[in-house]
Amino acid sequence: MPHPIPRVDNSPYPPGPTEWGQGRHGVGPWAEEHPGQPLPQAKQYDPVLLAEGDRRNVVDAYRYWTREAIVADIDRRRHALHIAIENFENDANIGTVVRTANAFAVDTVHIVGRKRWNRRGAMVTDRYQHLMHHESTEQLVAWAAEHGLTVVAIDNTPGCVPIETAQLPEKCLLLFGQEGPGVTDTAQQSAMMTCSIAQFGSTRSINAGVAAGIAMHTWVRQHADLSNSW
Ligand SMILES: C[S@@+](CC[C@H](N)C(=O)[O-])C[C@H]1O[C@@H](n2cnc3c(N)ncnc32)[C@H](O)[C@@H]1O
Repeated sequence: MPHPIPRVDNSPYPPGPTEWGQGRHGVGPWAEEHPGQPLPQAKQYDPVLLAEGDRRNVVDAYRYWTREAIVADIDRRRHALHIAIENFENDANIGTVVRTANAFAVDTVHIVGRKRWNRRGAMVTDRYQHLMHHESTEQLVAWAAEHGLTVVAIDNTPGCVPIETAQLPEKCLLLFGQEGPGVTDTAQQSAMMTCSIAQFGSTRSINAGVAAGIAMHTWVRQHADLSNSW
């Protein structure tokens, strides 16, 4: 049977959560989805979502849950991994970094420099992710030391360690640079090491959001309990 939502690309498959422009996603009101079943009474359920449906970009396990309940549930399982991105020139990749950090249950995403950032790429995932702002890289590094986190800078500068063979610390803060300048000297000097991602083509570097995804997943492969993943 063809999917009821018309697809611009004629794909036979239902749209994924990122194909926003192609119809409604999520679930309708509880009464339509579960005819004859009583409304759940547990306090994590949001009466408005139960009545009107839940179209948010959340995994099925969290359908109809309040935002607070979702954050509290992830908080029980967050990793010892923190992410920081330097934002002295208004980096456009922060939304992507936040979304990926959310997917990997990162503890906190730290924005260094400018407080404002473009939330578009975050696809509303920032609502479920702890975020913290620091005026400077020095302040971030001091905060990391106070909280027992080892800073690892990520860039492909001379003398860096290949992330493919590096052992990342478990209590770790991965620090990314911006398009153009890359990570600051302060970041590299404060870090236990700077790790590079191996490249083989002509470009000098990859997109910072992509680099962040690769580095976070490297940490996940080394330290996360995969039996806790969805
Ligand atoms: C687009 S890069 C810019 C700096 C880069 N060093 C250059 O020479 O063009 C922006 C950020 O993405 C990350 N990045 C991009 N490519 C990387 C790679 N191959 N290895 C590690 N990090 C990378 C780093 O965090 C870097 O600071």
